[in-house]
Amino acid sequence: MENKTRLERDRELIERRLQELMPRRDRLTEAMGYSLLAGGKRLRPVLTLEFCRACGGEDAPALDMGCGVEMLHTYSLIHDDLPAMDNDELRRGKPTNHVVYGEWMALLAGDALQAEAFSSVLCAPASAEARAEAARILAEAAGARGICGGQFLDLDGEGRRLSPEEITLLNRQKTGALLSAACRMGCVAASRPDLASAAGDYGQALGLAFQLRDDLLDEESTTEELGKPVGSDEKNAKATMLALYGAEQCRAMVREETERACRILEESFGSPGFLLWLTRELAERKN
Ligand code: IPE
Ligand code: IPE
Ligand code: MG
Ligand code: MG
Ligand code: MG
Repeated sequence: MENKTRLERDRELIERRLQELMPRRDRLTEAMGYSLLAGGKRLRPVLTLEFCRACGGEDAPALDMGCGVEMLHTYSLIHDDLPAMDNDELRRGKPTNHVVYGEWMALLAGDALQAEAFSSVLCAPASAEARAEAARILAEAAGARGICGGQFLDLDGEGRRLSPEEITLLNRQKTGALLSAACRMGCVAASRPDLASAAGDYGQALGLAFQLRDDLLDEESTTEELGKPVGSDEKNAKATMLALYGAEQCRAMVREETERACRILEESFGSPGFLLWLTRELAERKN
């Protein structure tokens, strides 16, 4: 199967499962579904699924665990867009959650998606041991040393000049941690926790490349192509590698981290063709 077709099939599986896991009952679940089912690249669940396959595992547990990661990611985006954070009004090509539903509903939709994320992981068709380990990995990526810690550094750094080391830590926590967790959870879903550490290192290298590319696109893309506002980082005076070093050096760092990620795939996972292709595609992504 061609890589592009495989990516489309993975995304279809994920979309269908997210629909099943996200029943609509009232306005709160409507608000949750509004952001969760708005599209998005679904990169994190694709990684969970594909790392599970690369470890010789079945799809079903990885699919539910990956959907959990996507719910947690979506919560982080809803909160990231709030007026108190990045104050953005477009996400995944649609008005942001708080623009449509108001701020308190957006807060609650995010909170509830975070809880549903753990529910999806803990109800996945896997051994009790695998489910507990996957939930532990997700909790670590969500907390003070993961997304919340990274978002703290990101917001606290607005208008300040951070060192490259500080920016790297910020990027590792706000973006690398969840991508890394998605990959590690794929290994756990396949009952290969021994491979989780290498998968985590891959996820961190990919995460750095991914966030640097996100920062480049924020400056160079168009709102239409991106589905979210360009110029958000400049508006908020974010401390980014791009602001510090400029586009050329950032592009070189994206290439470097991408190749580091690919080496891990070659050394620890037997050179899985699809994941190698996807990793290099992401370095050139347009949205
Ligand atoms: C956006 O993530 C936030 C970052 C970590 C840069 P994605 O670029 O994966 O957003 P979606 O899920 O495709 O909307
Ligand atoms: C993403 O950073 C951080 C999250 C963990 C949500 P950004 O603030 O750069 O993400 P976008 O550009 O709004 O998607
Ligand atoms: Mg932000
Ligand atoms: Mg933002
Ligand atoms: Mg951004």
